[in-house]
This record gives sequence, structure tokens and C-alpha cells, in this order.
Amino acid sequence: MEPNTDPFHRKITYLRISITDRCNMRCLYCVSSDSLKPLSHRDVLTYEEILDITRASVDLGITKVRITGGEPLIRRDVLHFIRLLRAIPGLKDVSITTNGTLLKDMAGPLFEAGIHRINISLDTLNPLKFRRITRRDHFQEVWDGISAAKGAGFSPIKLNMVVIKGLNDNEIQQFAALSIQQPYVIRFIEFMPIGETTFWDRQKIMTSDEIRSRLDSLGSLQQVPSSVNDGPAKMYRFENAKGEIGIITPISDNFCGTCNRLRLTADGRIRPCLFSDDEIDIKTPIRKGCTQEEIRKLLKKGIAKKPKRHYAGHGNNACLRPMSKIGG
Ligand code: 5AD
Repeated sequence: MEPNTDPFHRKITYLRISITDRCNMRCLYCVSSDSLKPLSHRDVLTYEEILDITRASVDLGITKVRITGGEPLIRRDVLHFIRLLRAIPGLKDVSITTNGTLLKDMAGPLFEAGIHRINISLDTLNPLKFRRITRRDHFQEVWDGISAAKGAGFSPIKLNMVVIKGLNDNEIQQFAALSIQQPYVIRFIEFMPIGETTFWDRQKIMTSDEIRSRLDSLGSLQQVPSSVNDGPAKMYRFENAKGEIGIITPISDNFCGTCNRLRLTADGRIRPCLFSDDEIDIKTPIRKGCTQEEIRKLLKKGIAKKPKRHYAGHGNNACLRPMSKIGG
């Protein structure tokens, strides 16, 4: 058996790395308030440590990395880190998920540093609602950041919208229309019970059928084949549209059977599943000076611990670590 095959015969090829738990926004579905205490800097993996872990994971068969946070672009010297990451032989693809607030200035340098695929979180097109959801007044920065990403040459540009009934579901059409006019992939993501779960409620989930029924008036929506980088998203496109639509349903339509992911948290833990707190500490062994072989062993242990599936959203099953600590 190949070293990156898990007990359920899934091949793990994709590592999501949270490089910081800090974020310059406070989205109400992610964190409760400003009281969130960030990790102290010494508890966060250094870039060197992250690179060592990434090299070991590439040795095992990881070919794809996504950089996440918190907000990854607020970490100091992130461009330098990305250049080093890009230089790892065997690592075929590096992408990033960002809230877009700093992209206006960073899109160009980021592209130059070797990242060409980007996901930007955007839950509303209304600046006032943006302030309500994120507790910050950064709509214009994000909007300018998205344009900057387009100008810099990123492709695809995916816009992540967490759809929450009663909060932003009235904007589904407007977001979908964006995928006609602009070369953006609009991704409707089902609201998951993660982090600030007092805000989560099954009634707030919009299913894929409900989302698509809102799009009828915009034209005929065709399902298109998902490509390798679409992950679990089901892909659609309007006729003559410049962009596409992705619908991601981790709760109502479980896709764990094709999971290819492993996560590395900012505080140095391997997280086998987004919804499971059964993590493996890799920071302590690294700081004691362990070898690359030992790092590979810990990663293999993480792969072996991947559960068959999650049961989040069923009964009281939820993940209490917020996305900002795990890396989306
Ligand atoms: N449910 C669904 N998506 C979420 N994200 C963060 N928290 C949740 C949640 N509870 C999204 C972010 C980001 C991506 C990494 O995950 O909006 O775009």
C-alpha cells in the first residue's frame, strides 16, 4: 500500500496549511467576539518548520498545498515563505484562501511568488451587511482586492459564499449573476457547525436544490464536469457565462468518500479531518529535533487516523475549534 493511502483506500494528496490563527475580521459564523485570544508567536510553527513538514508530506505523496489561516496574508514575510514553498520539488500546486482585505496591494506580488489559483471569502455584496457579518468595514478593500486578483492574472478566482438562510440567501441570485458577467467561480458553501456553533442551526442550511431553484430566472443552468481542482464542489454554468458556479454540501450531501485532505494547524498539529479534534502534535517532536523520517511517521499516523466520515450536523456533532484555528 502506498504511504499516503488511508484505511478506507483514499489517497491523500492534498495538505491544507494554516500559517496563522490571526485574522483581521471577526465573521459571526466563525468567532463569537473580539475576545478570541490569538496564539502567542512562539506557539505558531515557524516557516522553516512548516517547510520541513511539507517536504516530508511531499515524500509521502502530497502534491497539492493550500495556504489558509486565520488570514494568511497578514503573517509577516508570507511572500518569502511562498517562494520557498514553491521551490519544493514534487509539489505541483500551491493555492491560497484569503479574506481579500489585503489583496489590492498583494495580488501582484503573490502571483509573482508563484500562486496562480486563489479563493476569496465573500458572503455578501452589500457593504452594510458585510459589516454586520464580518464585524469590520472592509467591503471596498475586498472588492478592490478581487479586481486586483483578476488584473494580476489569477485563474481561477473562486469566491466563497457561506450561504446562511435569513442572513444572505437573498443574495444568491446576485452572486450567481456575477458568474455570468465575470470570470469568477461563485462557490455556494453550506453552513457548517464549526467554531461559533451558537450561531449554527440546521434550519439555516440551504440545500443544493434550494440554491438551484433560486437560479431558474437567470437562465438555464447546466451541470459541468468537475475538474481536479474543484474538490467536492458540484459545478454548474449558465449559457454564455464567463464564470462558473460551484455548490458544496458537506452536511446535506456527505462527500467524505472522496476526501483527499490532511490539515496542518498553525499551532503544529496534524488534523486528519475538519470535523474531528483527534489531532497529532507534530510541533513538540520537531522542536526536540526529530528527523524527517520521524515527521513522515507522524504524517502517516495522521493519514491512518482519518475517520471514514464525519457526522457533523447530525444531533450535537460539531467541531468546536473555529475555522480560524484549523484552516478552512
Ligand atoms: N461553514 C461554512 N463555511 C465556513 N467557512 C468558515 N466557517 C464556515 C462555516 N461555519 C468558510 C470561509 C472560507 C472557507 C475557508 O471556509 O468563509 O471561505
